[in-house]
Amino acid sequence: MGKKIVVMEDFTVRGTDNMKAFDILAEKYGAQVKHIQVEKDITDEKAFASMFLNMEKNGPDVLPEEDELLQEIQDANIVISHISPISTKAIHSARNLEAVCIMRSGIENVNADSCRERGIKIINAPGRLAVPVSEFTVGLIISEMKNIARSHQRMQAHNFDNHFPNAQYSVNLKGKNVGLVGCGMVGSRVARIMKAFEANVLIYDPYLPAEKIAADGYRPVSLEELCAQSDVISIHFRLTPETKGMIGPAQFALMKPNCVLINTARAGLVDEAAMMDALKNHKIAGAGLDVFHEEPLTDSNPLLSMDNVTITNHMAGHCADIFQMTLDIMLGALEHYFETGEWIHVVN
Ligand SMILES: NC(=O)c1ccc[n+]([C@@H]2O[C@H](COP(=O)([O-])OP(=O)(O)OC[C@H]3O[C@@H](n4cnc5c(N)ncnc54)[C@H](O)[C@@H]3O)[C@@H](O)[C@H]2O)c1
Repeated sequence: MGKKIVVMEDFTVRGTDNMKAFDILAEKYGAQVKHIQVEKDITDEKAFASMFLNMEKNGPDVLPEEDELLQEIQDANIVISHISPISTKAIHSARNLEAVCIMRSGIENVNADSCRERGIKIINAPGRLAVPVSEFTVGLIISEMKNIARSHQRMQAHNFDNHFPNAQYSVNLKGKNVGLVGCGMVGSRVARIMKAFEANVLIYDPYLPAEKIAADGYRPVSLEELCAQSDVISIHFRLTPETKGMIGPAQFALMKPNCVLINTARAGLVDEAAMMDALKNHKIAGAGLDVFHEEPLTDSNPLLSMDNVTITNHMAGHCADIFQMTLDIMLGALEHYFETGEWIHVVN
């Protein structure tokens, strides 16, 4: 008898062709799939946010559970859910459950403690935003260096002047030094794309062995070396108490006047005063920013009127095909499990 997979089709994914991918995979490995059509619908954005916040704070048991889940989970081996709660009661009524797979990065809709007690693995879909954020980062680099957003802004104001203050720094990526602060899910994709542009990729990442960075064809450097040598610096670190303000006055002091700073990670990684000083006083050429110390920006924020920044509204992760990205990661994990018997992307 093959494995039984229960797929919760909640209102975010219900009835889409995407969900058929699980049946195709199951057929390949002699498994069976039971789709549960979750009735509950939340169309209002505010109601969704408050439901999600409630679940984030108080766990999956605060939301009503599906009777069909309680029934179907009893002999299931794998349960897959997007945002539908997999309650503690459901976990406890399962006899053969090996894994709960959540098609997001966060796992708020499953109780980690009860899974641990029962030896059930929780699988997530890490790095699902890596594709959109890395592509967006490259867009910001090029837009800032080549005045794309500024030209658009001028033309829509019927100003056809195509000369910009950064003319001497408006160059090509080919042959330039692109320094990446962090080479995780997003940074490593940006690195590969920059290599295709024939840029020299410098990487500062103390979490990765220098040999691995070099073997991938990049130059492992210290943060100081990266700041001093890069024509473009793009930040892809995680924000933690240790990394807060890591790009501060000392790092800006090392940067070249033609340097373009890109931040699609988190604003707190950069010291705001030092960055504003560098931009206002043209100590660096410009910045492309998707994240800010205050979001949304208030009317008095100087970034709204500066001519050496390209700013976007914390949208690097937005894309219409995000669910497909998630599905690809989850199908990869399931395929790996059916081939090897081992789970990847285990969170607990
Ligand atoms: N603008 C957006 O809409 C958006 C969307 C998604 C992610 N992000 C941000 O992009 C950044 C990169 O995301 P990612 O998915 O590549 O992250 P990742 O975890 O794969 O890599 C992050 C990097 O952070 C560094 N790091 C610093 N402290 C660390 C620690 N304590 N543990 C592990 N790594 C640590 C490492 O160099 C690591 O390579 C993050 O700051 C994330 O919040 C932004």
